[in-house]
Amino acid sequence: MTQLQAKHLKDYQSPVFTITDIDLDFILDAENTKVTAISQVKRLKSSTKLVLDGDKLSLHSVLIDGKVAKYQQTDTQLIVETGELTDFSLTVVTLLDPEANSSLEGLYMSDGAYCTQCEAEGFRRITYFLDRPDVLAKYQVRVEADKTTFPFLLSNGNKVDQGDMPRSGRHFVKWQDPFPKPSYLFALVAGDFDVLDDTFVTKSNRSVSLQVFVDKGNLHKADHAMASLKKSMKWDEDRFGLEYDLDIYMIVAVDFFNMGAMENKGLNVFNTKYVLADKASATDDDYHGIESVVGHEYFHNWTGNRVTCRDWFQLSLKEGLTVFRDQEFSSDVGSRAVNRINAIKVLKNQQFAEDSGPMAHPIRPESVIEMNNFYTVTVYDKGAEVIRMMHSIVGEAGFQAGMRCYFERHDGQAVTCDDFVDAMSSASGKDLTQFKRWYSQAGTPELTVSEQFNAQDNRYELTVKQQVIAQGKRGAPLHIPFSLELLDAEGNSIYNNILDVTQSEQTFSFSDVQSKPIASLLQDFSAPVKLSFEFTTDHLIHLMRFATSEVARWEASVQLVSHAIWKNVEHLQNNSTMRVDPRVVDAFKGMILNPELDKALLAEVLTIPSMSALIEQVDIVDLDNLLHARAFVIEHVATECEDELLARYRELSSQDSSAARAMKNACLGLLALTSDDVDGLIEAQYQQATNMTDALGALKAAVNAKSQCMQTLLAQFETRWQDTPLVMDKWFTLQASINDDNVIDNITALTNHNSFSFTNPNRVRSLIGMFAANNIAQFHKADGSGYQYLTKILVKMNETNPQVAARMITSLIQFGKFDPARQALMKQQLVKLQSLPNLSKDLFEKVNKALEM
Ligand code: TRP
Ligand code: ZN
Repeated sequence: MTQLQAKHLKDYQSPVFTITDIDLDFILDAENTKVTAISQVKRLKSSTKLVLDGDKLSLHSVLIDGKVAKYQQTDTQLIVETGELTDFSLTVVTLLDPEANSSLEGLYMSDGAYCTQCEAEGFRRITYFLDRPDVLAKYQVRVEADKTTFPFLLSNGNKVDQGDMPRSGRHFVKWQDPFPKPSYLFALVAGDFDVLDDTFVTKSNRSVSLQVFVDKGNLHKADHAMASLKKSMKWDEDRFGLEYDLDIYMIVAVDFFNMGAMENKGLNVFNTKYVLADKASATDDDYHGIESVVGHEYFHNWTGNRVTCRDWFQLSLKEGLTVFRDQEFSSDVGSRAVNRINAIKVLKNQQFAEDSGPMAHPIRPESVIEMNNFYTVTVYDKGAEVIRMMHSIVGEAGFQAGMRCYFERHDGQAVTCDDFVDAMSSASGKDLTQFKRWYSQAGTPELTVSEQFNAQDNRYELTVKQQVIAQGKRGAPLHIPFSLELLDAEGNSIYNNILDVTQSEQTFSFSDVQSKPIASLLQDFSAPVKLSFEFTTDHLIHLMRFATSEVARWEASVQLVSHAIWKNVEHLQNNSTMRVDPRVVDAFKGMILNPELDKALLAEVLTIPSMSALIEQVDIVDLDNLLHARAFVIEHVATECEDELLARYRELSSQDSSAARAMKNACLGLLALTSDDVDGLIEAQYQQATNMTDALGALKAAVNAKSQCMQTLLAQFETRWQDTPLVMDKWFTLQASINDDNVIDNITALTNHNSFSFTNPNRVRSLIGMFAANNIAQFHKADGSGYQYLTKILVKMNETNPQVAARMITSLIQFGKFDPARQALMKQQLVKLQSLPNLSKDLFEKVNKALEM
């Protein structure tokens, strides 16, 4: 039985010792790597014992100032007797088995190459160390390995020496990083790669050498990542005045990786998914994902690396801010509206669910068992919303002044979220005291809005009530920037501004209003809150047509379809026939035919709200009726709009832009659901596709509609792409999404496919992760078979890769909105996991929280 202690933010203590310099020597060997770490240690508080972190290490020796040291060892610590010493050198030699490391944390092997992942607490799997982000040291690293197998030996900073050892066939390289950094930013890579080289000249005219390392044979897929890197570097100079600080920037793409990418100083390690792309194998969305992740990791160089976190509770200090920066980057170089829509979807479909489930936590968590469990949509995406709200409160100029103040005060330091807000407040002159509550209160605030119009004195009033309840506790009122537009009956904008909501209940009054206005509320999702307002169908249609904000128009369309779906859930519950208000259909027709609307935006409008989006809108879901009603509404709208969809489809098929492709594929997806046979269209698009977006768009349409051609096309796709793992992931995902009673049998069979492997997180996520997260009908099948299947996989992954296992358990612990029968089945599986003899910290934390609900 796992028994684990949580760490608490309130218990934070500054370090007793620090390490100013570290000299690391790696003698690489698959099963027996030798790591010698020589640290310069300084005592900061009175103590005679130096307590170092370590995890699954085999210790060889410990010396203090060159002499054998006295020490004790526990499972997680090395306690060295230091006597009265205040400054000394500490030598620790450890032995590692990277080949056996399937957790992909610490030093491990990915397809024959050595690589490391240290965030959050992986450095302690390499050597005993003060593995905490407020210990900043200068690193010098020597890497030695066989020269033919590992021609590239990489680490952080600048290469300062290299040499051959001809007798052994080995060679070595020495690296020095001039910037003190926390251990989580350390990285090492050794392998054989193809390299794409380029340079970037900074605003102060320094030339930076850029390198993207990819597996042999993939050089032609590295251009987009390189172009994205250069774009990011330029953008950070232009918008934030921030310049790169080393002479070299390296990106290495690896197949085996737990997350998207990692911002190690000067040596980013990336999941291949966020590097490799060419038109034939990557979709427009993949291209966009690469650009945003390359940007994200690059932007960390200032927000994360130069200024880092004091402790892991402050994770959002770097992640929320860096997500905000990458979103702004994507919006400045692409479509702001579409980027905003995608961010809103993440919040509403995933973050709201997390915030109402057992893992609810404030963006600055207060208690943590396994840090890896807190790389969450709350810390990242709600964290970015909190930064965005500050941006709207202080304005762009105030925000930039705040950033400058932040760097002036804290460059080279490990700081807190409060330090960031204080810098914003000092530089902008805005009081952000109340605003800081966003950092400590979990849960999604609910805004209930009502309106009154008084025709006698031309006065319009809007009353806003806010309520935050998290984990049963009522929170204090938050400072909420509330964006509001008022439209008149002709669609003219008569007011457009951001209101400061700061009280539990507040009334805003508008005079000289000639007739009852139509309000666009919480535009662009100006705060991460739930909005409740009695929208009528006509109100929403007016917003769809006239709201100034494109995002507000999209939002209105989502609400309109959602209403239509919920009405039909009621019809089903009352045994009446399903139907859709013709005004809804007309509103959609109007949008489909409107040539002025941005096509990428229209594609979003035509994407009917996902099951997870709909489930988030209610407290308890009648799942079977919802599935039924949703399918009915989509089919109905598609059928009614068939001529319009077909016309636009034909017009768009010759256009070559990602926006046109997005809309074309949205049209095809809907057309596939009409009663007419569109197999011909689907097959033609598939066979003639010159890019992955169109090929996959056709295949998706076929799979979603279970068209006749589905199996043939899936087989063709497999034959064409069986040697390209990242593309096979798309194929796995498609099959995992089929709403068919034999889907689990099919998934089970696919786990034996040549392209599948349980040790590769991308494969596991594409097939099993996607099934659990997105195939709502089958995962939540009333017989519990979906829950059982996921649990079986988690039992296996608990031993090999607990970090990935813990990410995939999300759908099983968020049971709160399901009916009692399903909840019982889900809990049954959680109890099974809870009783595992070797339950990992990662799963332990989530399973126990869920069962305490
Ligand atoms: N800091 C990384 C980022 O946001 C993400 C990260 C955290 C990570 N822990 C990780 C990546 C473990 C890979 C593995 O960019
Ligand atoms: Zn990040």
